[in-house]
Amino acid sequence: MPTDNPLSFGNRTSTIPPSGTLEVTRKVRALRRQGIDIVSLAGGAPEPGPDCLATPFKFPVESNVLGDPAGEMDLRTAIAAKLERDQGLIYDPETEVVVTIGAKQGVYASLLALIEPGDEVLVLDPCWVSYAPAVRLAGGVPRVVPFVHGGEYFLDGHALAARVNRRTRAVILNTPHNPTGRVFSGDELAAAARVVSDHGLWVLTDESFDKFVFDGHQHLSIASLAGMRARTIVLQSFSKAFALPGIRVGYLAAPSSVCQAVARLNEHLISCVSPLAQSIALAALADEPSWTHRLRDSFLSKRNIALEGLSNIRGMSCTVPEGTFYVFPDISAFGSTSSEFASRLLDRARVAVTPGSAFGAGAENHIRINLVGPVEALREGLERLRRVLD
Ligand SMILES: Cc1ncc(COP(=O)(O)O)c(C=O)c1O
Repeated sequence: MPTDNPLSFGNRTSTIPPSGTLEVTRKVRALRRQGIDIVSLAGGAPEPGPDCLATPFKFPVESNVLGDPAGEMDLRTAIAAKLERDQGLIYDPETEVVVTIGAKQGVYASLLALIEPGDEVLVLDPCWVSYAPAVRLAGGVPRVVPFVHGGEYFLDGHALAARVNRRTRAVILNTPHNPTGRVFSGDELAAAARVVSDHGLWVLTDESFDKFVFDGHQHLSIASLAGMRARTIVLQSFSKAFALPGIRVGYLAAPSSVCQAVARLNEHLISCVSPLAQSIALAALADEPSWTHRLRDSFLSKRNIALEGLSNIRGMSCTVPEGTFYVFPDISAFGSTSSEFASRLLDRARVAVTPGSAFGAGAENHIRINLVGPVEALREGLERLRRVLD
């Protein structure tokens, strides 16, 4: 018999906030639909444009299959070769690499594989918007570790150690770091590795921006430090390094026990990552140096244009990002919250930026500007900001 009582609903999704980056993207789309000319310096991923190459591609009928839940072997082999080439990390493509739907699903599936309900996972503040929700969705409790030391963004081993308790199971690191643009040094990673080893933790290291490091900084994976490979899950994405966010391909490399567990989750959650998308990723990886060098040079030149433009706006101060494709200016001189500030820029300058608060309390006095669009849009956005703020 039909009833008017509302059907009950699990509370898992209601405890998860919307993504602070996608929220801005939604606003931009809505305003553009009304015909309003918005310069978007928000959003987290490359948009179709000069930085987003299309791989010449014909649909091969062999791709129209349910593939291996761990990913296609040719792609896994190319991924293992890349990790060895870049970081000297040796992974067996048969058992130690799994292809995922972007790094995002890799983070979530790793957590599902590693933690029990109520387990704690250390996340930096600020950090990428999806780590804490992924921990919660996996039944865990995110424990925030300040990623700031002496007024600078810095990975502090003591701060990590101070948040470890008997429920702590894992730490999530991200270098090069979104949103701050920091590239973790060998000393910072060694200090984190000591804490992780001393307390028997796992470490998830999201290295999605590994190809975008500047000014002589070097990307280093914590997995390459002595004793760390056995407790590390390296997460990677084709969205950033290859400017291919639409194919939704990422991967993880980890000890075989972790990979086996993640592949089992894939069997039931997604069956496999689209083989079609995987063949695009494979083509991109085959052409890696030319592709990623071109992107890196373009982001570096736009970073310098952004720094120069921001230096002409009174009150705006900006550290030099060591990597990623973001700049992260400090707006504390303007005396408003980052969310109010970003709304003001959208209303008055018609420029979209991401408020620092999307990335945690530790980013409150900042906005994030991305460098993924055409250089003309960046210049126009900076000029609009100058006019409104000066
Ligand atoms: C640090 C970081 N990791 C992962 C992702 C998502 O990557 P993917 O598109 O591969 O899921 C993002 C996207 O913004 C990110 O900034």
